[in-house]
Amino acid sequence: MDVDTGIDDALALIVAATLGEQFDLLAVTTVAGNADLAAVTRNTRAVLGLLNRSDISVAAGAATPLLRPLRTAPHIHGPGGLGTIDPDALTPRPAALYPESAAEVIARLARTRPGEITIIATGPLTNLALALRMDPPLASRLAEIVIMGGAITVPGNASPVAEANFLTDPEAARIVLSSGIPVTLVPLDVTERVRIDRTGLDNLRQRAHQRGSTVGRFAADVLAFYLRAYEQHRQAGAALHDPLAVALLARPDLGTADPLHVQIAVADPLTAGQCIVDRRPIPPEQILPSNVRCYLQVAAEAARDFILDLLLGPPGVGNA
Ligand code: RIB
Ligand code: CA
Repeated sequence: MDVDTGIDDALALIVAATLGEQFDLLAVTTVAGNADLAAVTRNTRAVLGLLNRSDISVAAGAATPLLRPLRTAPHIHGPGGLGTIDPDALTPRPAALYPESAAEVIARLARTRPGEITIIATGPLTNLALALRMDPPLASRLAEIVIMGGAITVPGNASPVAEANFLTDPEAARIVLSSGIPVTLVPLDVTERVRIDRTGLDNLRQRAHQRGSTVGRFAADVLAFYLRAYEQHRQAGAALHDPLAVALLARPDLGTADPLHVQIAVADPLTAGQCIVDRRPIPPEQILPSNVRCYLQVAAEAARDFILDLLLGPPGVGNA
């Protein structure tokens, strides 16, 4: 997984770890996004420690986007990325750090296991773009990249037309989407529909309490901050962006993915990060061949319930 942890990235890590045998989680790489690189790396190591997955090492990646200054999101994720939670207080055993960079780890693992690795990317795509630049054959060695990013038929969430991960590093998004790697896109069109509200949060907290699940209690605590942030922006319910990307990899039946040709705008500040899709009613042979499978439909309630169950954590982990 390539993450910018971030509240919903932390939830995505919990979902992936709780799915257990369905995912052989090989490594986690970090990229600056929701918070700066030091913070997202500290958060990621702490969440893996909380999950009792200190066996998985973390590689720190890009501290800034390829060509632009970093834009963080303290108003949604808190100043350090996990609301008001201090990651150092979460676990005595944070996951270890690789001595290599994220791009180096991605390239090395793909070289040793060609055709076997799927990357779930829930932050800006800077690390993947750097890895492709460093080692172009990487494109033919990855099985797939599942990306939480983009907005196809809906408005953006970080500009009128752009989703936050693509707006933060549009050049990287363009490189990855034109790399030839099989890409599955999980855009705002579906993630904005899978939300947790006060009732869902109370229910999660209650179940975490009943089970004595420290993982579930942590999920409820960060979600409380995240939900308040959404409510301050007059939105009822908080979108479960990043966990949905993991959920759809495990349960593709929860949505419908269509082949699309998606290009990313980079030049004009007004449109940077926008997904350009040719939706004109023109003969199919005039439409560019697809470069992504893109989820545009989701069974929203079923997906939300699937995710909420998994946020209680793996059986036996952190259960008091
Ligand atoms: O637009 C939502 C995405 O931006 C999520 O990945 C969230 O964590 C932020 O990075
Ligand atoms: Ca993210």
